[in-house]
Amino acid sequence: MLVLGIESSCDETGIALYSSEAGDVLLSHALYSQIAMHQEYGGVVPELASRDHIRRVVPLLRKVLADGRRSLEQIDAVAYTQGPGLAGALLVGAAFAEALAMALAVPVIPINHLEGHLLSPLLSSTPPSFPFVALLVSGGHTQLMRVAGVGDYQLLGETLDDAAGEAFDKTAKLLGLGYPGGPALAALAERGRAGVIKLPRPLLKSADLDFSFSGLKTAVMLRVRESIALGEQQKADIACGFQEAIVEVLVTKALRAVAECGLKQLVVAGGVGANRQLRCELDLAASKRGISVHYPELALCTDNGAMIALAGALRLRTSRAGVKPAGAFVIRPRWPLADA
Ligand code: KG4
Ligand code: ZN
Repeated sequence: MLVLGIESSCDETGIALYSSEAGDVLLSHALYSQIAMHQEYGGVVPELASRDHIRRVVPLLRKVLADGRRSLEQIDAVAYTQGPGLAGALLVGAAFAEALAMALAVPVIPINHLEGHLLSPLLSSTPPSFPFVALLVSGGHTQLMRVAGVGDYQLLGETLDDAAGEAFDKTAKLLGLGYPGGPALAALAERGRAGVIKLPRPLLKSADLDFSFSGLKTAVMLRVRESIALGEQQKADIACGFQEAIVEVLVTKALRAVAECGLKQLVVAGGVGANRQLRCELDLAASKRGISVHYPELALCTDNGAMIALAGALRLRTSRAGVKPAGAFVIRPRWPLADA
């Protein structure tokens, strides 16, 4: 089976070809990031995002076919991101995928973007096996899920306000860093002195598996306001204090979720999963407890088409739940993963 995957939920157009013909293999994937275009505005401009997806899909499709040495006619199914995400951006990928599948007379598989993220470590050289706990940390979501199999997702806890990536982005903005703030803040934090700025650890000791990050951002805002002009070292110390706080909360709650589920594997997916300190602290704490932590390859941490092609191929092979004939479609800008 040859599955084409299309991702267009936000500011990245991703297309990939996944084959399960002779052993499972990601044949090719291509990505166009709109970051440079949105940078000027300090964040994603939805209308510009939609228009740019339109410009990118056909060239990217041609590229993955050429790189994967396959023709359009060899595609057996088309998977695409149905939600959650920006409505206009989702519409581009959905309309393109449905039209292409109809022309090729093959089925489509509408995929939940978060499902793509949490299955993406299956593409790595050290894949997890079901069941596992997944920590999803992206720009829009922070969730802990129990994953029993493809399409079997139980929500254990989630953020009550800002997502982890959102907190990184907003804090970066407060410190005068550009968009997207996460990687820039993480880089600044590397130059900060550990323990100099102590910030709150929201919900660290709460009995549930929920998160709350908006207070952390406010604590940074107060620090910034307190000082007349922040020097580079002070900014780096604040970035370091922020990262320490968010990482401690994520590590503590993720490992508690694994213990409460009686499991031994943790998957970390979504853009914040690229954070070096999060990976270091998590690996250290997990190894002490005999828990293995699985990440997607660094290039597949943020949005991409490969994870959508993979999720489509797995759905096609296992339950076939969600596989449908091409034609009428809806997009789901809000779509809880537990309903997928
Ligand atoms: O999963 P993703 O690409 O898109 C969404 O589905 O939201 O995640 C993007 C988020 C952004 O908030 C970005 O700032 C954050 O991931 N991010 C990071 C790092 N790289 C990306 N946050 C912290 N450290 C990083 N190295
Ligand atoms: Zn994402």
